[in-house]
Amino acid sequence: MTRPKRSQKDSAQRPDAARILVLHGPNLNLLGTREPQIYGHTTLADIHAAMAARARAENVIVESFQSNHEGQLIDRVQAAASEGIGFIVINPAGYTHTSVALRDALAAVSIPYVEVHLSNIHAREPFRQHSYFSDRAAGVICGLGAYGYMAALEYALSRLRDAQH
Ligand code: DQA
Repeated sequence: MTRPKRSQKDSAQRPDAARILVLHGPNLNLLGTREPQIYGHTTLADIHAAMAARARAENVIVESFQSNHEGQLIDRVQAAASEGIGFIVINPAGYTHTSVALRDALAAVSIPYVEVHLSNIHAREPFRQHSYFSDRAAGVICGLGAYGYMAALEYALSRLRDAQH
């Protein structure tokens, strides 16, 4: 499990800051070395650092959580409800195509989310072309590599800005 540094300090120093949760499913801890021809060379730590820096400019805290375990991802989503998380960016990875339970957790907390995939899942094996998350997502980004997370973040930031007015 990778839990890039955050936020406890951030939260204490910026108690009024809005918060975005970025969830990464199984095997994404291996980004950078995992099938780089498909997933690129950018690591999860790089992605977190870029997102956190961009969000900080708008006084928004980005928390990132990766797990190889379905139950831990579900627990993290459930906890988000009581933590004031305003938006979720999620790459469910392999659970995209299998996890009713993680989908149900997102529905239960009613936090809006964008689904991100590094690769274009529609250009790959047929089993990757169904997602349990897409129909409930505010939007789906796939095939743009690590940039997809930044695009999702821009959307999340705009949603949080709108919510403040
Ligand atoms: C992925 C696509 C999934 O099909 C795969 O199982 C992953 C990563 C992506 O980011 O392209 O682990 O979600």
